Amino acid sequence: MRKTFLLVPLLALGLAACGQSDKTAAPADAASSAAAPVAAPTPFATVSAEDGAKVAHERHDGFEAMGKAMKAVGDGLKSGHVDMAVVKASAAKIKETAPKIAGWFPVGSGVAVAPKSAALPAIWEKPGEFQQAAAKLVDQAGKFDAMAQAGDPAAVGAAMKELGGACKGCHDQFKKKDD
Ligand code: HEC
Repeated sequence: MRKTFLLVPLLALGLAACGQSDKTAAPADAASSAAAPVAAPTPFATVSAEDGAKVAHERHDGFEAMGKAMKAVGDGLKSGHVDMAVVKASAAKIKETAPKIAGWFPVGSGVAVAPKSAALPAIWEKPGEFQQAAAKLVDQAGKFDAMAQAGDPAAVGAAMKELGGACKGCHDQFKKKDD
């Protein structure tokens, strides 16, 4: 739907810049330090159908909130007026949400219990890679937030591309394409 479209143009531009920042975050660290409200102790624990549906709902809301935060920044960039208050709030929201992703996909929370879910089976077939993609976002969200709180409007565009690259990197592998 409309909300994710914004990422596409930004991301197409951003990919070339990815080389510098891949080194950090061993996947397990970022994933395990996160508080995961509904999910079981390990990210890929098997849950009941009821809990699976619940966590699918929670991640839907969480991703939507992150999408809105990205859009708020993207709209500012497009209009040529970057409101740093909006950027700061958005960056904080994304930073707060990113660590939760690792716990949002327990086994049993896919399309079987959440028919509208765009989660691909690859999430559970390649859990290591999925966790790595999630850890990468945690890393990028931290950097974006640091940049935002430092308050440099000129850096927002470039930082946003890096951040968007982490979203896209996971979506390309693990999220069903929008029609
Ligand atoms: C580690 C993987 C991963 C990362 C990183 C990631 N996403 Fe997603 N995202 C997914 C998956 C998988 C889905 C599909 C979830 C579902 O439908 O059950 C999704 C769904 C979404 C949706 C649709 C929500 C809905 O249910 O309608 C939005 C919006 C979204 N992501 C935004 C973002 C943004 C913005 C970022 C980066 C700031 C991001 N995502 C980073 C994996 C990821």
